[in-house]
Amino acid sequence: MILVTGGTGLVGAHLLYKLITQKENVRALYRSESKLANTKHVFSCYTKDYETLFNSIDWVKADILDVPALSEAFNQVTKVYHCAAFVSFEPDKYQLLRKTNIDGTANIVNIAISKKIDKLCYVSSIATLGDNLNHKPITEETNWNPEADNNVYAITKYGAEMEIWRGTQEGLNAVVVNPGVILGAGIWHYGTGSLFKKAHKGLKYYTQGTVALIAVEDVVAIMIELMHNNISNERFVLVAENWTYKRFLQALSKSVKTKPPIKLASINLLDIAWRLDWLKHKITRKRRLLTRHLVKSLTSETNYNSGKIKTAINHEFKAINKTITKVGHLYLKQD
Ligand SMILES: NC(=O)c1ccc[n+]([C@@H]2O[C@H](COP(=O)([O-])OP(=O)(O)OC[C@H]3O[C@@H](n4cnc5c(N)ncnc54)[C@H](OP(=O)(O)O)[C@@H]3O)[C@@H](O)[C@H]2O)c1
Repeated sequence: MILVTGGTGLVGAHLLYKLITQKENVRALYRSESKLANTKHVFSCYTKDYETLFNSIDWVKADILDVPALSEAFNQVTKVYHCAAFVSFEPDKYQLLRKTNIDGTANIVNIAISKKIDKLCYVSSIATLGDNLNHKPITEETNWNPEADNNVYAITKYGAEMEIWRGTQEGLNAVVVNPGVILGAGIWHYGTGSLFKKAHKGLKYYTQGTVALIAVEDVVAIMIELMHNNISNERFVLVAENWTYKRFLQALSKSVKTKPPIKLASINLLDIAWRLDWLKHKITRKRRLLTRHLVKSLTSETNYNSGKIKTAINHEFKAINKTITKVGHLYLKQD
């Protein structure tokens, strides 16, 4: 039996779809009935018969912070894909980020060791990698710098990855993937899916930085392959292509048939915008849309190199322009 955490999220739902179509015996965790709709939406992008596939999953209600429920969910499990995480860049969500990402992953690792599972695949992020001097491409060897100006999400994903490596020292057989920004269809109200929604409404500005992109289909195919072969205790950067934000946002707009953004948002403008967003958040308590760290990431130029995974499993990434066109088309179809 395979256990998938985060099955109501973008990566987990696509992974479930792939595993189920490969006729695997799969159990998935969920926290609330309402979120199961996310998984159905993802499945419905690929098949009319999504209910049958959805119902073939053994859905178990468990929070990764609830150790007894989680432990029960591990019964008869041999392989675990740990995709659950809290994704937020809001500084005041730091404690919840730490609990979900670090403590939750520690729980998964501890139970996996005590139940002697065969192998675990953890979805980390390129956020856990450091920066290189002189714009040299970032790889698995580019280590985290605790002294850098790290954002709250990155700090907790790094802490989570450390829990996996701690587990491997205690006998866990694990692989870690570090994807860039993951593009996929079916969940449009938050995350990267919401970028298609925003592009459809019309984007005015682009920023001057770069973005590391990968299709969700590549991420899940690589995860499954890494669980099938004998690669162990290694991590892999998953970035298909490094694009400028200008190219990315213009391609998103084209994919949903709206006018592309033509104005550059200067760093000065963005510096004012994140401060105004902070003030709005303080007054209205609405979610922050722009933070200082997000501005930093939107305006910095970084290149990631995925040579290691290409060599290890001989994987060809899907072209990002084709992925954006396909996801945009699926967005318009549901709209
Ligand atoms: N999307 C990207 O661009 C990207 C890029 C790099 C790395 N990643 C990593 O990839 C993984 C999957 O990301 P995603 O985009 O699929 O995220 P997502 O759409 O936000 O999904 C997160 C999943 O985690 C679950 N979850 C959160 N807290 C939980 C808890 N306490 N107990 C059990 N489940 C919990 C959520 O369940 P609910 O539905 O109940 O909230 C949801 O199923 C994450 O580890 C993320 O850090 C994502």
